[in-house]
Amino acid sequence: MNRRRFLSGVIKLFFLLLTVASGLIALVYTYPARIRKLKTVYIPVLDEEDIPRRGVKTVTYTYRRGEHIISTRAFVVNHRGSLYVLSPVCTHLGCLVNWHRKKQQFLCPCHGGRYDIEGRVLGGPPPKPLTRLPLKIQKGKLKIGIKV
Ligand code: FES
Repeated sequence: MNRRRFLSGVIKLFFLLLTVASGLIALVYTYPARIRKLKTVYIPVLDEEDIPRRGVKTVTYTYRRGEHIISTRAFVVNHRGSLYVLSPVCTHLGCLVNWHRKKQQFLCPCHGGRYDIEGRVLGGPPPKPLTRLPLKIQKGKLKIGIKV
């Protein structure tokens, strides 16, 4: 092997490794979050004594996902003896729903989606119910499970 062929081989190998490394980096950054293994962290949102005895209470909270600080809200619901937390994210296109106390419904301001107090679809385009978030009561706090 002469010197010219050797250098040519080294350069080709360098560019091959560079291409593979670039591809791996691009894959890591574009890999969908849904497929990635996300872990659930529990965020305190209410003191235990503030849990509604009946009905819906809106809570706001902030958490960190990667480099982003996310502020959002959720609905703590105590209905017919069941305590659960509903995500405010409309299952149609992701707008945030609001609780309408008089109508006893969650209403989406974007396309008229309507859900009952248990998050079931009553009308409009949403294809499925509001998501229930994991919850636990620990050390006097109600905590919501968030995937990060
Ligand atoms: S985003 Fe809620 S009805 Fe369309």
